[in-house]
Amino acid sequence: MAPKKPLCLPSLLLPILTLLLPQADTRSFVVDRDNGRFLLDGVPFRYVSGSLHYFRVPRVLWADRLFKMRMSGLNAVQFYVPWNYHEPEPGVYNFNGSRDLIAFLNEATIANLLVILRPGPYICAEWEMGGLPAWLLRKPTIHLRTSDPDFLAAVDSWFKVLLPKIYPWLYHNGGNIISIQVENEYGSYRACDFNYMRHLAGLFRALLGDKILLFTTDGPEGLRCGSLQGLFTTVDFGPADNMTRIFTLLRKYEPNGPLVNSEYYTGWLDYWGQNHSTRSIPTVTKGLENMLKLGASVNMYMFHGGTNFGYWNGADEKGRFIPITTSYDYDAPISEAGDPTPKLFALRNVISKAFPEPQVKNFAQGSPNRDYLYGFPMVPKRIWAQFQEIPLGPLPPPSPKMMLGPLTLHLDGDLLAFLDFLCPQGPIHSILPLTFEAVKQDHGFMLYRTYLTYTVSEPTQFWVPNNGVHDRAYVMVDGGLLEPPVLGQTILTHWLMFPLKVDKLVKWWFPFQLLKRSHPETPSGPAFYSATFPISGSGRDTFLFLPGWTKGQVWINGFNLGRYWTKRGPQHTLYLPRPLLFPSGALNRITLLELENVPPQPQVQFLDRPILNCTLRKTYIYSLSAGVQGTSELMQLSGH
Ligand SMILES: *[C@@H]1O[C@H](CO)[C@@H](O)[C@H](O)[C@H]1NC(C)=O
Ligand SMILES: *[C@@H]1O[C@H](CO)[C@@H](O)[C@H](O)[C@H]1NC(C)=O
Ligand SMILES: *[C@@H]1O[C@H](CO)[C@@H](O)[C@H](O)[C@H]1NC(C)=O
Ligand SMILES: *[C@@H]1O[C@H](CO)[C@@H](O)[C@H](O)[C@H]1NC(C)=O
Repeated sequence: MAPKKPLCLPSLLLPILTLLLPQADTRSFVVDRDNGRFLLDGVPFRYVSGSLHYFRVPRVLWADRLFKMRMSGLNAVQFYVPWNYHEPEPGVYNFNGSRDLIAFLNEATIANLLVILRPGPYICAEWEMGGLPAWLLRKPTIHLRTSDPDFLAAVDSWFKVLLPKIYPWLYHNGGNIISIQVENEYGSYRACDFNYMRHLAGLFRALLGDKILLFTTDGPEGLRCGSLQGLFTTVDFGPADNMTRIFTLLRKYEPNGPLVNSEYYTGWLDYWGQNHSTRSIPTVTKGLENMLKLGASVNMYMFHGGTNFGYWNGADEKGRFIPITTSYDYDAPISEAGDPTPKLFALRNVISKAFPEPQVKNFAQGSPNRDYLYGFPMVPKRIWAQFQEIPLGPLPPPSPKMMLGPLTLHLDGDLLAFLDFLCPQGPIHSILPLTFEAVKQDHGFMLYRTYLTYTVSEPTQFWVPNNGVHDRAYVMVDGGLLEPPVLGQTILTHWLMFPLKVDKLVKWWFPFQLLKRSHPETPSGPAFYSATFPISGSGRDTFLFLPGWTKGQVWINGFNLGRYWTKRGPQHTLYLPRPLLFPSGALNRITLLELENVPPQPQVQFLDRPILNCTLRKTYIYSLSAGVQGTSELMQLSGH
């Protein structure tokens, strides 16, 4: 597609920008192909960057994490923008609170970090559906990440909202964004649709102008389909890969530009049911050292991993879906709780050696010119000279942690006891079960209910053909789905579907109080448990340990902390950041939705360190009792 006219800014914005940025015209970030390097304001430059995802860190902690990254010797931060985090419904946008991307850009500016932005539309990132909104699937024929007009129309309208927001933040416009990635590892996707990549490149140019550096990132095998003429090509690989071989391969696609590894893996992600991943410090530092010796620019993925709160953890498709844990610690240099690790200090040592001595300067003790910069939406030019320098200021020590408990939880009641509150609008009727997407439930839980009109007197197999459940379903007799479920040889029909507003109920927990039954007996099926607890002072970071619990979801003061799956591991504790807790004087509330079995002592504990590395190696078997007697109600609870 031919580039369109450059972007039109809202007319009010231009005079304001001019006012703040008298030197905007002298700012530039370009590729110097004659000398195989980048130039920042005309001066040779390379970046040592780290990945940090604002959507995996509570907003109040952004500044802390960014500041620690800067003090580790980094001069840039690289991050994705997950489309599904910002456009929950077609045409409905959310850039509030923890979704305030502009506030994050501002925090990066205050921390003196340049920005390498990766807006997708697909981001992967082990994030729910790779950042694509689930509502795209309401059109069952849609071809994601291709030039399918339905997909392109949705992408175009999203980028027409997103890209104008970031336009003022481009480096040459006075902001800190030096480059922007188009798509993400597109070469690893089977479609290999160059028209799609060309469309995206045209769209970015039309909305962002000609000056901004656009680039692609792929693993070595993906370079063929992922790179595109006109876009700067970068590669990604980890410490165990052969740097010489991969950079030689990159030269086929990017013969003269600076060498860039956009994702140098400092660690790795964890899957439920597999061993905790680690990468040793010597291999990670050695690889970085080799790349810096070559003069390459590097982004370390992740520098701080964070947490998959809520239902945002994704799943990898490897024949079947393999879900990623709630923790995204990643064995990264800054731990999930925001603490500097030995890996950080080892990497900082390598970085400081790679930059010439005279450039190494001490930063103001403790804070990076914060007073000076605070409140400025844009950074004055002379500050950027410091990107050539390594700040060797002190890093704060690990934040103090607290221990608490054990805390006994009480049964609030079965999930089904709250059905009227969880689904106040009543069920959706359909002959065959509908998918989550079809009933506009993007994640969380849905109850599928049908009544058996005949007697099943013998144990009979209940099944969903063709691997039709892509998420996870619990079957209850008497108290998702792509193929009709079958009982024996009969296709079950006439379903009632209850999309459940679980998070709303937990947040406004008063119905629990209103509904409190005489006294809870033993639960049948998924059930809510809760407790209240005070803390002393303003509290500290802590790690929630759920010994003996099986699988479910946990909330602190209505905030969805994420999934737990103690029975499977490797993650046994959930990171609980201090800002989620009410200080002394108020009670905190913990709520669990346990989907399976509760320990004899329904207790939880708060620990002062995480347990991320205990995997139950035995295959974990689910028992479903067969045998349906009489005319019965058959229900399925499905989680997404
Ligand atoms: C975002 O904040 C604005 C202003 O406070 C508010 O009007 C709007 O409803 C919020 N949007 C969402 C999606 O929360
Ligand atoms: C790395 O790749 C280069 C070039 O292909 C090759 O010469 C070298 O032997 C490889 N090194 C290792 C350790 O495999
Ligand atoms: C997981 O760790 C255990 C214990 O260290 C080891 O025996 C096993 O081989 C590991 N499994 C995998 C798949 O690496
Ligand atoms: C888990 O990690 C802790 C702390 O790093 C370590 O002491 C322990 O040996 C590890 N356990 C396993 C099973 O790897």
